[in-house]
Amino acid sequence: MFEILLGTCCALSLVYVFLCVWRRRKRKLPPGPQGYLCFGNSFQIDADRIHHDLHNFREEFGPLFKLKLYGTNIVNLSSASLLYEAFETTPTDEIANDRSANSTSDIFYGRKHMGCANLSNTTLLLREFHKSAIPKYFEREQFFELFNKEEIKRLHLNLISKPTSNINPHEYLRTYFKNVCAILLIGESLSESDPDKEAPWEFIDLLFELIEPSVDGALRTFPFLKYLPGYYGDMYRRTVEARDKVAKMFFDYQKESYISGRRRGLVDVCLTKQADDILKTGSTLLSDEHIKGFIFDTLAAGMTELLKSIRLFILLMCHYQDIQTRLQAEIDNVIGTERFPEVSDRKRMPFTNAVMLELWRYGSQTPLAIPHLCKKGFLLDGYNIDNGSVIFPNLYSVHHDSEIWGDPWDFRPGRFLDKKGQLLPPNHSSIRNVVPFGLGKRACPGQDFARSRVFITITSLLQRVRILPPENYELPSADPRLYTRKYPLAEPQYECQIIPRENMKL
Ligand code: HEM
Repeated sequence: MFEILLGTCCALSLVYVFLCVWRRRKRKLPPGPQGYLCFGNSFQIDADRIHHDLHNFREEFGPLFKLKLYGTNIVNLSSASLLYEAFETTPTDEIANDRSANSTSDIFYGRKHMGCANLSNTTLLLREFHKSAIPKYFEREQFFELFNKEEIKRLHLNLISKPTSNINPHEYLRTYFKNVCAILLIGESLSESDPDKEAPWEFIDLLFELIEPSVDGALRTFPFLKYLPGYYGDMYRRTVEARDKVAKMFFDYQKESYISGRRRGLVDVCLTKQADDILKTGSTLLSDEHIKGFIFDTLAAGMTELLKSIRLFILLMCHYQDIQTRLQAEIDNVIGTERFPEVSDRKRMPFTNAVMLELWRYGSQTPLAIPHLCKKGFLLDGYNIDNGSVIFPNLYSVHHDSEIWGDPWDFRPGRFLDKKGQLLPPNHSSIRNVVPFGLGKRACPGQDFARSRVFITITSLLQRVRILPPENYELPSADPRLYTRKYPLAEPQYECQIIPRENMKL
């Protein structure tokens, strides 16, 4: 009897093992570098230049490959068509558009925001405020530009304050973009006399320190560290304090002084929706904490991304004087010297548009976008992507694919212009392959605002000043192969000379 039982168990086990192997064989998994035991591929990647290492793997494994980093299955996508298929096409758009929690989740009151929240109705609603509210309530009414002009004037005065010496534009740009985002949210800049005026950057800088892989990894493995004295606990508590200051400035005061029907900025747009929902149905998806999360996301993404674009732009202008001269010729011709640039000027300025596209292609300032979590297994380009995999949209690799670009490491805006100097049509492969804002349901909701701010900032800047390389100081290279993950926010920074142009009448 015992022998029969033992024989049956062995036979069943063999059938089970056979079925597992057969199922695995049937499933076509993406190719990828061979890993080592439980470490996977963690030691084959330099965390600071991960986008670049993944770009190099692409040579061997193609644009879709997998690897294992610190226990997580990663899928790298290095082509715009794969990104489109994964994030924008039904049904994968419902599967591949979640996010992983990280050690900042509690800072956002348990992921009540957009950037690291799953794709829920509330996430879609918050995204909608960015996508539709900015053009709807601000730019069309010229409300926003009125306040923005004051900030631009202040930025220029600061930048030309030392015309005979080198200047690091970083701090001036930080103040400028902090106020641009404040105007967007609450309709006014932060007062210079406000003792908490540095809180937004303090909060964002700490937030980025918390999501550094080494800090995030430690806090996720040992969450109790947040509550203990020492490095991790101190950083966590400082972040919470800075968050609360920001919430007070941007939310508490706005809610206290809110008047129905008045829209000072995006926070009022959220408060109006909240009040309308409660009036109509007695409840709302939009809690106070969600609105605060929306504020934090807008500041984190808006201030840092705009700062990165303009910092890199100024560095590139130091290197490429000829491109600066051509930009200034187009600005003088279309806008002149007697009025401020307007968003509507953009459609008449092909070279400026080409420079913006090349700035975002060449610099690829969010090299791996924000990683996407897959909530189910699915098939992509014939490969099985496992449930729980994290997709890295490798925008850096898309933007530096030599088969598409030929000379990806050259800064050459002319690649986006036709023989007559006009911008290539939107369906041209060169335009379709520039995807700095990602694609699909999680693509950057602030992209229209970003395009208009970068346009206004660079045109109004070059309308008034000439950017020159520094004197007696070595200008860092702008080659993106040298960037680390943090570049161009990380120290060391650069200096340049900024001198006023002649004949300016503004
Ligand atoms: C040149 C400037 C900018 C670039 C290159 C950029 C790029 C990106 C990218 C690549 C993503 C992730 C897309 C994905 O997950 O697939 C993203 C997300 C996001 N961006 Fe931007 N961004 C810029 C400016 C802005 C601005 C100015 C704002 C707000 C005012 C903003 C708000 C956001 C938000 C809230 C998200 C998270 C969306 C979500 O998770 O659903 N961004 N951005």
